[in-house]
Amino acid sequence: MIKKYSYGQPIETSAVVTDIPAEQDEIQALNLIRSDEGNLFLTYFMEEDDVVYGLGEANRGINKRGYIYESFCSDDPLHTEEKRSLYGAHNFLIVSGMVNIGIFVDTPSQVQFDIGYTAKNVLKITPSDENFKLYLIEGNGAYDIVRQFRKLIGRSYIAPRWAFGFQQSRWSYCNEDEIREVVKNYRDNHIPLDAVYMDIDYMDGYKDFTVSEERFPHFREFVSEMKQQGIRLVPIIDAGVKIEEGYDIYEEGRYYQLFCKRPDGSDFVAGVWPGKTHFPDFMNTNARNWFGSKYQKLLQEGIEGFWNDMNEPAMFYTEEGVREAKEYLKGFDFDNIDAGNFFQLTDMIKGLANRRKDYESFYHNMDGQIVRHDKVHNLYGFNMTRAAGEAFEHLQPDKRILLFSRSSYIGMHRYGGIWTGDNQSWWSHLLLNIKMMPSLNMCGFIYSGADLGGFGSNCTEDLLLRWLAFGIFTPLMRNHTALGTRNQECYRFGNSEMFKNILSLRYSLIPYLYSEYMKACLHDDMMIKPLSFDYPDDDLSRHIEDQLLVGESIMITPVYEQNAIGRYVYLPEDMLFVRFQSPSKRSCCVMHKGIHYIPVDVGEVPVFIRQNKMLPLCRAVECTDLLDTSKFELIAFTDKEMEYIMYEDDGFSKNYDAHENLVSFAITENDGQLGAVSSKTIVKLSLFH
Ligand code: GLC
Repeated sequence: MIKKYSYGQPIETSAVVTDIPAEQDEIQALNLIRSDEGNLFLTYFMEEDDVVYGLGEANRGINKRGYIYESFCSDDPLHTEEKRSLYGAHNFLIVSGMVNIGIFVDTPSQVQFDIGYTAKNVLKITPSDENFKLYLIEGNGAYDIVRQFRKLIGRSYIAPRWAFGFQQSRWSYCNEDEIREVVKNYRDNHIPLDAVYMDIDYMDGYKDFTVSEERFPHFREFVSEMKQQGIRLVPIIDAGVKIEEGYDIYEEGRYYQLFCKRPDGSDFVAGVWPGKTHFPDFMNTNARNWFGSKYQKLLQEGIEGFWNDMNEPAMFYTEEGVREAKEYLKGFDFDNIDAGNFFQLTDMIKGLANRRKDYESFYHNMDGQIVRHDKVHNLYGFNMTRAAGEAFEHLQPDKRILLFSRSSYIGMHRYGGIWTGDNQSWWSHLLLNIKMMPSLNMCGFIYSGADLGGFGSNCTEDLLLRWLAFGIFTPLMRNHTALGTRNQECYRFGNSEMFKNILSLRYSLIPYLYSEYMKACLHDDMMIKPLSFDYPDDDLSRHIEDQLLVGESIMITPVYEQNAIGRYVYLPEDMLFVRFQSPSKRSCCVMHKGIHYIPVDVGEVPVFIRQNKMLPLCRAVECTDLLDTSKFELIAFTDKEMEYIMYEDDGFSKNYDAHENLVSFAITENDGQLGAVSSKTIVKLSLFH
């Protein structure tokens, strides 16, 4: 049951698709308090053993208790443990225990969630703006609450199937030949690959919707040459539009008044990659339609996917900030730099980027309503992606286009996925990736993933292998790294065989993963869940943070520590342990409910098949275009009749509800023997009980 409460005059965020009338009565489940300073906040008393789920793209664990988080989309590439904000703002959480309650604070400005940080059992939610909507969801457990919430916010974005292939990125691929070289190395080593990303260097002077003619002289032919090799190119689009006379996007935006404004009506200026830029006013319908229509330029060249970046929006500096810095430097005593002024100086320079003061200094025209940016800050990346998503509906109505964003708010999940921004090549960030995936799913971001191998810092071979062994289960599976870091394409390390093995397993799993992904999207469900969602009565499951359920059939137990030779796992029921060592080598053994230590060598992938479930596998190939889904191998863990329904479609059109999209794999009994029955060819059945 969902109840809505409305305070003041909230700004419409478009997060919710179901209109429910606001309650007239006082709120019951939470205490609404006004502090002595006049701030409005909500409190809820948590029981000692309540678990708090949610918050989507946020730091720390699956259980959010014990820390303080701030929803304020932040361009901060150093996600150390103390950080309170990351790139997304996903204000949905669930307190789950004897009583279960879902809370969605629908407001586009900053919100603070103190989840037992100040007082151990007190959840305190402080919206920075008194005008907000609050949704309270009662349900039969956390999972039920998530499903109700997901109905409220609408169907998640559906990616094309090729986007389940492995994707390679690096900030610095500069020209056609560099990309050709990457593809050649993958193909020569027979390591599967479906896409290569084009980071900012493909553009002419970092100008959106341009392609450097010098470095990509025959772009359309190049796109098609890559496509013939089964490779899609995915260009980045940044939020800031370069200020340059004669550049059409700049000229049009200025002429039609489509950029964010300063109080005096001039266009707001911030420095990003190209130097000075204007920010399109994505809160304005005309600006969205205009910017969205520009993607056509690249679609026409044969491009089928995009990543929207720097859309918090990220700012290196503003003109005002630079002016203040110059003033400060004039009076600075460079002859006597000591502890006092040294840190002042460095903080001042670092502090030029993404200043709160700057976010408070420009304005949007929300179709007639003038709103200061910080009041709607968390909607900016959402609306950039919405601009693209809505445009694709017109430009290519029958085709799915890959789209994901760095910054997001709930509601954006209907237009695109997300990647989790600039992580680091740290083992702790592999673990953060594991813990974040179910929380993202709760908030509707099903097509998501992290920069595998880590964006910042230098990656090691073992970290990349372990990360990929987890990443093969995330819908977006992309290796991406920053300019200046060690090369981390899969062929760069000594043993490309291990990389090939892991990625080949990904391709064997694509029919299953795609099926579970599509079911999650089509039924407003989750693809990646914490254990407790399917084993609600199993107390230990509530505290497992490093094992996940992926779809209905499997549990995964990734290794995330350097030099580990295996790990402890907890099985909430008897399961079949499948140790994938290479495409031709695997061992299976039944393990009983309880705690076990399992060996997992670097390069291996441990998978547990749940009771009365099966895992269909197809033959591994080097790109999704070559997948043959007419033949399957089945690994089943059952001693009785059962069925797995696989969702399958052409992977690019939008006919999701066709009856033929559902394929049955049944284990049936015949003359006392269990066997497999399906319209697909079953090349092998491995049955365990
Ligand atoms: C941002 C993005 C990163 C990208 C870089 C250059 O830091 O998060 O993925 O590589 O910009 O475009």
